[in-house]
Amino acid sequence: MKSRWGFLGCGNLSQAMITGLLRTKALSSGQIFATNRTKSKLDKFVRQTGIRKAATNIDLVKKCDIIVLGAKPQDLMAILDEIHPYARGKIFLSLAAGHSSKAISKRLVGARSVGRVMTNLPIRLGKGVLGVYFESRVRSSESNIIKTLKSLGFVVTLKSEKLVDVVLAASSSGVGFLFWFMEIYFQWLCSQGLSKLEAQQTIQKVFLGAALLAEDSGSSFERLLSQVTSKKGTTLAGLKSMRERRLDSALKAGLDGARNRSRELSRALR
Ligand SMILES: NC(=O)c1ccc[n+]([C@@H]2O[C@H](COP(=O)([O-])OP(=O)(O)OC[C@H]3O[C@@H](n4cnc5c(N)ncnc54)[C@H](OP(=O)(O)O)[C@@H]3O)[C@@H](O)[C@H]2O)c1
Repeated sequence: MKSRWGFLGCGNLSQAMITGLLRTKALSSGQIFATNRTKSKLDKFVRQTGIRKAATNIDLVKKCDIIVLGAKPQDLMAILDEIHPYARGKIFLSLAAGHSSKAISKRLVGARSVGRVMTNLPIRLGKGVLGVYFESRVRSSESNIIKTLKSLGFVVTLKSEKLVDVVLAASSSGVGFLFWFMEIYFQWLCSQGLSKLEAQQTIQKVFLGAALLAEDSGSSFERLLSQVTSKKGTTLAGLKSMRERRLDSALKAGLDGARNRSRELSRALR
C-alpha cells in the first residue's frame, strides 16, 4: 500500500510542501491528509488541492504513516503531548526550528523514527533546498522518504544535527535575504526611471539567470565573478564601493545571526 503523509499544521511551509509534492506527482492527493488549528484556512486549501482532511490531530496520526510537524516551534510541544499515545511505529518529520530530534523523540516514545527537515518556500516549485537529518540510522523507510523529498528540490542529508541550524540560515533565511536584496535592486531601478513592472521583471531575470548560469557552468563562484569583472570596468567599480562599506562582513554577520537565533531558540525551548 502507498504510504500516507499527514501534515499536522497546514500553514505556509506545509502548503508549499504539499503543492510541490502534488505538482511533481511524487504523491497523489489521496495520499495526503492534513489538519490545521484554523479550520477555514485548511478548508480553502483542501478545496484548491483535493487533499484529505483528518478530523483531529490524533485522527491524522492514526491514519498516516509519515507525519510532518508543520506548526511553529512555540506550538509544537503541546501538539506532541496531544498525539504521543498514538506515535508508536510512525515516522515524524519536523519542520520546526529550535526543537532537537532528541527533544521530539523523548515525547514520542515508540515512534519509528524522528527526522528534521529545514527547507524553504521554493519547494512549492520543486526548486527548494532541504537539509534532512534523521536521529537514527537511515533505513529503507527513511530512504523512501528522502526519495520523495527529492521531488521538492535539492536534498542535503546531514550527518550532524548541528548543521540543521546552518542549513536554516543559508536556505530558509537565505531566501529571505535574497528577497531583501531584490527589494533593494527594485527600489534603486524604480528611482532611476524604470516602471515597477520593468524593475520587477528585470530583477527576477537577473537572479534567475545568475543561478542558472552558475548551475549550468559548474564553475566556482570566484571564477564566475572574474568572468564578469573586467579591469577598470563597471562591475569592479560597484564591487569596490560595496567592499569599502564591508558588505561581505555584513552578509556573513547576517548568516551568523540567523544560525545563532536558531540555536538560541533551541536553548529557550529545552
Ligand atoms: N515559512 C518558511 O519559509 C519556513 C522556513 C523554514 C522553517 N520554517 C518552520 O516551519 C514551521 C511552519 O512555519 P510556517 O511559516 O508554515 O508557519 P505558519 O504559516 O504559522 O504555519 C503553522 C500552522 O500550524 C497551525 N497550527 C498551530 N497549532 C496547531 C495545532 N495545535 N493543531 C493543528 N495546527 C496547528 C497553524 O494554524 P493557524 O492557521 O491557526 O495559525 C498554522 O497554519 C515553523 O516551525 C517554522 O519555524 C518555516
